[in-house]
Amino acid sequence: MPRKIIIDTDPGQDDAVAILLALASPDEIEVLGITAVAGNVPLSLTAKNARIVCELAGRTDIPVYAGCDRPLIRSLVTAEHVHGKTGLDGPDLPDPQMPLADGHAVDFIIQSLRAEASGTVTLCPLGPLTNIAMAFRKAPDIVDRVQEIILMGGAYFEVGNITPTAEFNIHVDPEAADIVFGSGRPIVVMPLDVTHKALVTKPRNDAFRALGTRVGIAVAEMTDFFERFDKEKYGSAGAPLHDPCVTAYLIKPELFSGRHVNVEVETLSELTMGMTVADWWGVTDRAPNALFIGDLDADGFFALLTERLARL
Ligand code: RIB
Ligand code: CA
Repeated sequence: MPRKIIIDTDPGQDDAVAILLALASPDEIEVLGITAVAGNVPLSLTAKNARIVCELAGRTDIPVYAGCDRPLIRSLVTAEHVHGKTGLDGPDLPDPQMPLADGHAVDFIIQSLRAEASGTVTLCPLGPLTNIAMAFRKAPDIVDRVQEIILMGGAYFEVGNITPTAEFNIHVDPEAADIVFGSGRPIVVMPLDVTHKALVTKPRNDAFRALGTRVGIAVAEMTDFFERFDKEKYGSAGAPLHDPCVTAYLIKPELFSGRHVNVEVETLSELTMGMTVADWWGVTDRAPNALFIGDLDADGFFALLTERLARL
């Protein structure tokens, strides 16, 4: 029985790969819809890029909704320096033909959670948590109906990628992250601690290209492009596939390991704004609220990803 999910996203090359992996895995995942949020690039572009990815996968049946165009309180911070001006630099993909679905992404999230049986919809946020937080605030009745939240965001041992202490998704909208982490629902966190171990080395990029398909070549071109930031900053061996860790977890959770700990979000100090403070050693009496993932079987992850992308 495939798991019903809503992907909330700010494509972003790594978001694109996460979406492709989900769409290539219909036995495990049923994508109810995709909701775009402002993040890597402004909303107009993330809403466009999400449709470009659906068309690349041949899945124009997937509804794509535009959501919030800025964080709850703070002003938007984008990441063109990582993802390029379009947010999907690398491959030369055609503009989308499919229209946006009618209505706001926040209302789609609310309506879906009310329409589906309680405890059967998983939320998969891959960008700032603005849409999710707005849905929880607008319709508190839906919170307990969420099966699980599997998100890419945060960092602890790996520290920040946009500030010394904060990871981008959480830093952009810390107040939204605070609402989500305080929601009481089961949360699986894919922080930089694990995503920085999912690196697209040359052999792995070659394997994408060797698929010889439009999808395989586009993914190779996407990761070729967005590896620059991490290579320059960290000397990484390749692009970190942050967001695909979320979708891979849905398909093969045994690829990942972590610890159930308390995670709180810094929303007051400008110095550490957006830091995810993980009580990894249990030194506080704050109740554990998240499975904080720290490691993965990288070869197993890339084998799964490449095998699934071959299906599109
Ligand atoms: O910090 C990495 C995260 O920020 C990823 O989700 C990437 O797509 C960007 O949104
Ligand atoms: Ca993202």
